[in-house]
Amino acid sequence: SQAFVITAGLAYLIGSIPFSLLIARIFGKIDLRSHGSGNVGATNVARTMSAKWGAFALLLDAGKGMTAVGLIPVLMVMAPEDVIHQKVLAAVMAVVGHMYSCWIRFRGGKGVATALGAVTVLAPQGMLIALVGFILAFLATRIVSLSSIVAAAVFAVAQLLIGQNSLWKANTWSLGVFSVVVPALIIFQHRSNILRLLRGEEQKLQLRKSERQ
Ligand code: G3P
Repeated sequence: SQAFVITAGLAYLIGSIPFSLLIARIFGKIDLRSHGSGNVGATNVARTMSAKWGAFALLLDAGKGMTAVGLIPVLMVMAPEDVIHQKVLAAVMAVVGHMYSCWIRFRGGKGVATALGAVTVLAPQGMLIALVGFILAFLATRIVSLSSIVAAAVFAVAQLLIGQNSLWKANTWSLGVFSVVVPALIIFQHRSNILRLLRGEEQKLQLRKSERQ
């Protein structure tokens, strides 16, 4: 129905705001696309500016996912049985907006922070398990991309295990699809990282000692 189309459009627009690019441009006076990994994400803000600015970018990008899932259903009220599908659609479209932003020629980031915000609201148990996966992988390797890929995979598996009996019921099938499709999209966005990882060329995260002026 119309409400689903509006939900999708609003969520896409929220997701498409390239906060990392804006932060780097306004406060770091650099174009993130030609610095560090070239990715318009919080990790690259942390890498090219500082941990503090990276955390700020992470917060804003996660905020997009949270806002899409948390706010749109309040603005666009749907029938109770449709609300779960509306939230899932909002979550997917916010992540897609971040990855394929209309403001930067349909390019964008890898969707980790935006998805984190979305699943904090939508699937908090799966999020927590994925977060543990991320932290363990990061402590072991200090490589953010690898940790993100591990977290995405752990999220999918955790969701399918947690929701074994509920995720595929008539009213929650969309969350089941989401739990596989969004991690797959995130891993796909890491394809250049995966090539570097296979070649042994992916760098550990090194933070600058002093802030970039
Ligand atoms: O959030 C993206 C992260 O997983 C990798 O970022 O800049 O190292 O490619 P980057």
